[in-house]
Amino acid sequence: MYDSFLGPLNHVGIAVPDIDAAIAMYRDVFGVTDISEPADLPPQGVTYAFVNLPSGQVELIQPYGDKSPITKFLEKNPKGGQHHICFEVKDIHQASQAMAEKGMRVLNQPRIGAHGTLVVFLHPGDAGGVLIELMETPKDGQY
Ligand code: CO
Repeated sequence: MYDSFLGPLNHVGIAVPDIDAAIAMYRDVFGVTDISEPADLPPQGVTYAFVNLPSGQVELIQPYGDKSPITKFLEKNPKGGQHHICFEVKDIHQASQAMAEKGMRVLNQPRIGAHGTLVVFLHPGDAGGVLIELMETPKDGQY
């Protein structure tokens, strides 16, 4: 029986210094045709775009505003790099509480993410060095 909080791997987050250049690379080098227009998400401090692939998505994120959480990451990785991975969960509040009870540092209260559903992030220091985003699966299955 599959009894885990983790649903499908939804996306891999890639921090980029120039989202237009990153989109151009996925389009012109890899030939991806299904890429969303960049959109700003001020509460998260990012501009994002989704590269849609048969197996899932690559989420390109560029800093938005002065206090972007990825500015420091890009200072250390000027060309960009893998920033987080995102798993879907059925119930973000339940999953968040369960992770906290298991000793994981949950970095934020559930807040709206790029797919319009609630997300939390788990401290990479508790998760094998990987920043993990948990995202509530959209109720209508659309994203
Ligand atoms: Co993400």
